[in-house]
Amino acid sequence: MKKIGVFTSGGDSPGMNANVRAVARYCIEMGIEVVGIEDGFTGMIEGRIIPINRAWTAQIISQGGTVLKTSRCKEFMHIGGRSAAAAKLKEAGVQGLVACGGDGTFHGAHALWVEHQIPVVGTPGTIDNDLYGTDYTIGYDTAINTAAEAIDKIRDTAASHGRIFIIEVMGRHAGFIAMDVGIASGAEYVAVPETITNLDILYQKILEQGKNKRTIVIVGEGDEVGGATIFKQLLKEQYDVDAHIAILGHIQRGGSPTVRDRVLATRLGVAAVDALLEGKTDVMVGEINGDISYTSFEDTWTKRKPLHDYLIRLSDILA
Ligand code: F6P
Repeated sequence: MKKIGVFTSGGDSPGMNANVRAVARYCIEMGIEVVGIEDGFTGMIEGRIIPINRAWTAQIISQGGTVLKTSRCKEFMHIGGRSAAAAKLKEAGVQGLVACGGDGTFHGAHALWVEHQIPVVGTPGTIDNDLYGTDYTIGYDTAINTAAEAIDKIRDTAASHGRIFIIEVMGRHAGFIAMDVGIASGAEYVAVPETITNLDILYQKILEQGKNKRTIVIVGEGDEVGGATIFKQLLKEQYDVDAHIAILGHIQRGGSPTVRDRVLATRLGVAAVDALLEGKTDVMVGEINGDISYTSFEDTWTKRKPLHDYLIRLSDILA
């Protein structure tokens, strides 16, 4: 393989730049030309392919977001969009790709391999940690630390006023962020899509807080009841309880990556290039129990990574 392309796609996550840097520097070390594709699949369709050298990667390891930029590309969901992208890649002499993103990215990468035989290896880049085939995704550690810091601040003011706060964190389909930050911030109740939310139990927890009343409730945005706004409304309607809400939103996606995210991103970037050189394709590289793992793209979205039962029990017992 003489030329490898790297791109980031879908929702950005802290550590994507460290991942691109590792891919680029390792390729250069191995005597392979490396190019970056701007704006994910959108830039691929438009042929926005730029050369990357060592100097280009200087300073990016500590930067949040993605300097290659990203997109959620509707055109790539159609066969015509993918054909256009494949033609641009072939024209540029790209013989293999490293795709950093989540399940949407891997759907596109899988199609590129099946329809156009362009080898692609993925690296898990999403704050949600919801990809089967890796213990942690790139960006997750930064996101939970950002969220925990924000929640600690809300707790201060909640305690001062004796208020009930419902704090919504990201996680469209999974409650990893909610559960970890719930435990880390000593929340009284954590609502996640993996468990059935019981508002009567939540109300009991609020009552148990007694006179002080300070209650922290963490809601994962994918919870079956809804987001923080719905919780506030239901608490009022069903129990005559007044609560404040805070939706942490995209603050969780930004910021300089933590050391853990930088190291994971670096290790997986190198592993992705090695995988391509070994002839692997249509797989995501991940880290399971400290070892590099390979999971077919299809398994990353068809198999569900479970939220460990012991975490759910811990949050119940210690709340
Ligand atoms: O990156 C994953 C995620 O943060 C989800 O938790 C969230 O629902 C979604 O992205 C929102 O992304 P966007 O605003 O880019 O559509």
